[in-house]
Amino acid sequence: MKTIGVLTSGGDAPGMNACVRAVVRAGVANNMLTVGIRRGYTGLLENDTQILTSRSVGGIARNGGTILKTARCLEFKTPAGIRQAVENIRALGIEGLVVIGGDGSLHGALELHKAGIPTVGVPASIDNDIAGTDMAIGVDTAMNTIMEALDQLKDTASAHQRAFLVEVMGRRSGYLALAAGIAGGAEMILVPERSFRMQDIFAEMARARERGKPHFIVVVAEGASPNAFEIQSALKEQGEPGFEVRTTVLGHVQRGGSPTAFDRLLSTRLGTMAVNALSEGQSGIMVGVQMAGRMMTPLVDVLREARQPDDDLLGLEDLISL
Ligand code: F6P
Repeated sequence: MKTIGVLTSGGDAPGMNACVRAVVRAGVANNMLTVGIRRGYTGLLENDTQILTSRSVGGIARNGGTILKTARCLEFKTPAGIRQAVENIRALGIEGLVVIGGDGSLHGALELHKAGIPTVGVPASIDNDIAGTDMAIGVDTAMNTIMEALDQLKDTASAHQRAFLVEVMGRRSGYLALAAGIAGGAEMILVPERSFRMQDIFAEMARARERGKPHFIVVVAEGASPNAFEIQSALKEQGEPGFEVRTTVLGHVQRGGSPTAFDRLLSTRLGTMAVNALSEGQSGIMVGVQMAGRMMTPLVDVLREARQPDDDLLGLEDLISL
């Protein structure tokens, strides 16, 4: 394989740039030229491309957004769109493709694989709703953004003895709400996966008041039903039991910003894995990481020897500085 393509697609996620950089540099290490496809599948249909070199991706890992731009492309989802994309990929001399994106983008990757284009997916979505990996690119940065917002909202909420309904992203998944809400010490977390009743919210608010809490923070996932505004109206109708209620929608703020160290490292690992997978002849797969799980280890074993960096990291160090 001499030439590979890379694109970022769907909602952007902090760390996409670090991933593009890793793809390009892993490509250089494998003697491959990398063609960057701009604006996701839209750029693929319009032949909007640029050659990426080690130098052209220098210094981008710290930036949010994506240098390749991104889009949600409806035309690509049609059989004619796929046919056109395959034609363009072949005409561009691209022999393997790395698709960085969320659920919709990975559906597109599968279609290209079925159409005979060697394609590997890399999970990137702040929602963390993609099976096959414990963490997707962008999740950690978004969680940190939400946690900071919760810290700040607590200051003003406590000053006024208010309840805040904080809507965070996640259309189908409550992961972001749960993880950031737990880290940020929310009083309640409402997610699409778990049903809840208005009475439960009233009761929790009343209990918080009795316990002398100065604020009541409820993190509400975007996909929760009822949603944050419906909950606010219901609480107002009940005379705002215990706390005056305000709603804050964090919105697209959660998708921006400089990626955390965790996201840069994850993106670098996954981008490199994707290129290595292509060069080994793999296609129709998504690379991912396993992190879940807890351990209990006898202290004698813990103290036997210090933990060493894994071979993976030692390998990345040489490659990423290219
Ligand atoms: O899938 C990522 C995501 O940020 C969702 O959490 C959110 O519902 C959606 O994208 C917003 O999409 P758009 O940026 O197209 O409005």
